[in-house]
Order: sequence, then C-alpha cells, then structure tokens
Amino acid sequence: MNDSTQPKRILSGITPSSSKGLHLGNYLGAVKPHIDFQDQGECFYFIADYHALNTVQTPQEFSHNTYETYLDYLALGLDLTKTTFYVESHVPVIFELTEILNNVINVGQMMRMHAFKDKLVDPNADIGTVNMGLFTYPILMAADILAFDVDIVPVGEDQSQHVEVARDIAQAFNRKYGQIVKVPQLYIKKEVARVIGTDGVRKMGKSLGNDITVLADPETITKQIMSIATDPARIKKDDPGDPSKNVIFKYLELMSFDAAKLADYEARYRAGTIGDVELKREFADFFIEYFREARERRSELAKDPAVIIQMMQHNAAKANEVANSVMNRVRQSIGAIYL
Ligand code: ADP
Ligand code: TRP
Repeated sequence: MNDSTQPKRILSGITPSSSKGLHLGNYLGAVKPHIDFQDQGECFYFIADYHALNTVQTPQEFSHNTYETYLDYLALGLDLTKTTFYVESHVPVIFELTEILNNVINVGQMMRMHAFKDKLVDPNADIGTVNMGLFTYPILMAADILAFDVDIVPVGEDQSQHVEVARDIAQAFNRKYGQIVKVPQLYIKKEVARVIGTDGVRKMGKSLGNDITVLADPETITKQIMSIATDPARIKKDDPGDPSKNVIFKYLELMSFDAAKLADYEARYRAGTIGDVELKREFADFFIEYFREARERRSELAKDPAVIIQMMQHNAAKANEVANSVMNRVRQSIGAIYL
C-alpha cells in the first residue's frame, strides 16, 4: 500500500451508457473535477464499459459508446502525461476481484442501493425481473476502486452511495483478512454535484431530454439552449424577470463566466432590458466558444483511430501493472494457492 509520503492516488470512472456524448452535467460534475485533480495526485481514470452492459443493447453501440466517451474525455483536457486513462474491460483482474468481494457483502446491503430500489418504486414491479448486473453493480464499482489502492474517489452526488459501499466492502474485507485493501475517501464537489437540466427542474441527465451536449455541433447546441425553460409569467421581453427562474444564470456562474458581466446581465434581466431569447443567444455563443478548442481537438483525435487504440493499449498496460500487484496481495491474503 502507498504511504503518506507518496502522492495521493485519485481514481474515477464514467459509464459509457450514452451514444449522445457528454453533457454539461457530466462535464461540470465529473469531467472538469477529474481534469482539475490531475495536478494534485496520481490519477487513474477509466471508461467503465462493463457497467454499461446492463443498459446498452447491441455490440456496435457498446464499442461505439466506449470509444466516443474515451475521445470526449481526451478532447476535454485529460492529459496522458499525467494520468492513466484506460478502459475497464482491459483490466481483467477487476472482475476477479469482484468475485472475491461478492463474498464479503450480503444481499440485504445490496437491496438498499438506490439504483436497485428505484426499479421497485412502481408497486407492480417484479423483483424477479431486475437485471443481475444492475443489482451487483456496486460490487463491480468497489472492485474498480479497490484494485488500485485508491486514496480519493471524486464523483457526482448520485454515485456517493456506491463509494460508501466500496468503503464498507473494503472494511469488511480487512476485518476478515487483515489490512490488505485501501479504504478510499469519497470526494464530492458540492457546487456542481447536481447540475439542473434545461427544464429548470430536474437534474440534467442524458435520458431526460434536458441536457446540453458539450461537444455537439454548434447547431445542436443552439437548439438545446433555445429550448431552455423560462419563467412562464414573463410574457413580454421587457417584463421584469427573476434570474432565479432562468437556469442560464446558474450555468454561467458554474462555467466561471466573467462576474461583472454576469451581474450586468442579472441587472438587465431584472429591469426587463434583456429578453430570454437574447439571453439564450448570448449564452449559446459563450457556450460554443467555451468548448471550441475541445471540439477542434476532438475532430483531430477522431482522424486516427489507430492512435487511439495505441493509447488504450499503453494505458491498459500501466493500469494492469498496478492492479495485478494489488491482486497478488489479495489472492495471497485469502489463501489462494500461489503457482
Ligand atoms: P446521466 O445522469 O446523464 O445518466 P451518468 O449517470 O452516466 O449521467 O453520469 C456520469 C457522471 O456524471 C457521474 O459521475 C455523475 O455523477 C455525473 N453527472 C451526471 N449528471 C450530472 C448532473 N446533472 N450534475 C452533476 N453531475 C452529473
Ligand atoms: N458508476 C459510475 C457512473 O455511473 C462510474 C464508475 C464505475 C465509477 N466504477 C467507478 C466511478 C469507480 C468512480 C469509481 O458514473
């Protein structure tokens, strides 16, 4: 295990469950904090492809989503000179560890997981039809983490329960076998833990149709921004407006928009000298410019798939080296015969 003189090890993953590309909630809640952490420790980030197996339906979609999410992350600022960035399924010992960890947690604990409980909210829901991959997903997530002797796991709010379970599993394992696996710390960046969607009400999510896709083409982005919900009580554009009823102000703040300009927009909005449509146009211009470099980097990266595959191979080798050494320690601790 690494000691206090070593840099902190930081790990997080993202499930490639969408073919649409990452949205603003993913970016602010996950990708940006991950990128910012690159200068603060030794980072391991990965595309959690096997986590997507219970939602993605076809092999084509499965590989497409994994590849495209890998590109999005690289384009958005992941730096391979600082970070090991791999695909989960390229590190097979994670799945071996999952099987070992299955034995230190019970069904009752798993039944308290939100993702599972959400499936049973409907009174007519049948527990027998819940996908086993969905049920055991937090154990796989624990293995993703524990295979790397991790100090800190930065995630969005919706993942905090899973990291808590990973901690419980690590502690249960250590009670049984000695101080073998590292117990990780959860890290949540509060301000961006729950970015609201373009409906202004629910958390932004890819399946809710309330998202803004960060690296989409400018027309798609503009369309998504033009659909942002505004205060229905503000009928004419010179009616006084309430900035708290237009989520654009929140987005601008979270995207570190110039504070003086933001205050000016807010004042004009209150005074009724800027309409919602004009504000949306201004925001769309800012948004498209904000991600312009990343969009350009993405088109460059997309030109040469062979280079991306090489990056995956090189990073898988680095990840395997670390995970294999943790696994050797785990196998010995449980008494597996060493050949
Ligand atoms: P979605 O909610 O769109 O299905 P995922 O569950 O795949 O997104 O989440 C990927 C990562 O992005 C996770 O770390 C999650 O916490 C973060 N995330 C997703 N949506 C938001 C949001 N609206 N605000 C903050 N973080 C988010
Ligand atoms: N479940 C996470 C998500 O949906 C992704 C993930 C998988 C993860 N394994 C992880 C995050 C381990 C942190 C640590 O976004």
